[in-house]
Amino acid sequence: MFVLGIESSCDETAAAVVNNGNLLSNVIASQIKDHSAYGGVVPEIASRKHIEAISAVITQAMADAGLILSSIEGIAVTRGPGLIGSLLVGLSTAKALAYGLSIPLVGVNHLEGHIMASFLAEKKPGFPFVALVVSGGHTNVYLVKNYHEFQLLGQTRDDAAGEAFDKAAKLLNLGYPGGVVIDRMAKKGNPGAFDFPRAMKDSPDFSFSGLKTSLLTMVKKLGGHFTEAELADVVASYQEAIVDVLVDKTLKAAVNHHVAQVVVCGGVAANSRLRERFATAAAEKNLELFIPPMILCTDNAAMIGALGEIMLKNGRSDSLDLNAVSRWPLVPISAAGEKRG
Ligand code: KG4
Ligand code: ZN
Repeated sequence: MFVLGIESSCDETAAAVVNNGNLLSNVIASQIKDHSAYGGVVPEIASRKHIEAISAVITQAMADAGLILSSIEGIAVTRGPGLIGSLLVGLSTAKALAYGLSIPLVGVNHLEGHIMASFLAEKKPGFPFVALVVSGGHTNVYLVKNYHEFQLLGQTRDDAAGEAFDKAAKLLNLGYPGGVVIDRMAKKGNPGAFDFPRAMKDSPDFSFSGLKTSLLTMVKKLGGHFTEAELADVVASYQEAIVDVLVDKTLKAAVNHHVAQVVVCGGVAANSRLRERFATAAAEKNLELFIPPMILCTDNAAMIGALGEIMLKNGRSDSLDLNAVSRWPLVPISAAGEKRG
């Protein structure tokens, strides 16, 4: 089945074509340069930029797939969670296309999409597995029993891990998005140079707000002046504190639930230190690790199309009065049914 996926939940306008779980095209227009001056995503700017980009992005995705729109048999679009104004651009476009082409439309959960990205890699996980969804808005650990069957095992009580990266970069004036900059700078630093807190050691939940405060205290103490080498040590140590708890709690969850496979996904899964540490620690515990390629970790429409294709093949579709939702926790399909519409 040829499915067009559309994603616009935050600051990436994306479209992709999938067919039987294979990726035919994957186009992403990033708005990074439009938001970098503000150190974070400005929702109003994001919506406007999505409107400007979406037609060209879809046209490019069709061209890259070597298809024309009339070959598309279904549209999958991110319905939530995300910025409501941004979501509405993708959703309205998806509805117009579904209506114009007389093909089914399905609204997809962005978090579930991130998990599904692991199914687009050559080596695919098998159910059940434990999944860490770690992005700018979420830090959640799930037991994934089957398609649409999730059990939340742990989540952040305050900031998401991606937010912890972004806020630190803002505080240190390093640029945006913080995760990417810190990842690069940390390679030159010593991860053991400074001692940042690892919060909630004995809980399955996460907390990153104390980490941010402790960085602020350190910056104040040092008068805000660092040599380049010191700065590399600071960000390497800060990153290590985030990576430590993500690896530790995720793998503990897998062991505690007697699951042999672990999926790590979402924007922060693009972090090179996180990938390295997960690989070593999973091997030590005899767990099989699945992390999508970098381009499928950060926001993309391939993951939305892939999940949408499965949903459409299972007879799921939505009517054209489908609405976007800014909050949409992953809950089992029986409970989700009440929330749809
Ligand atoms: O999944 P994503 O693209 O958007 C959301 O759904 O939030 O994730 C974006 C987050 C941002 O916080 C960004 O700083 C972080 O992912 N990120 C990274 C890296 N690349 C992106 N964090 C750490 N290391 C990276 N290499
Ligand atoms: Zn995302």
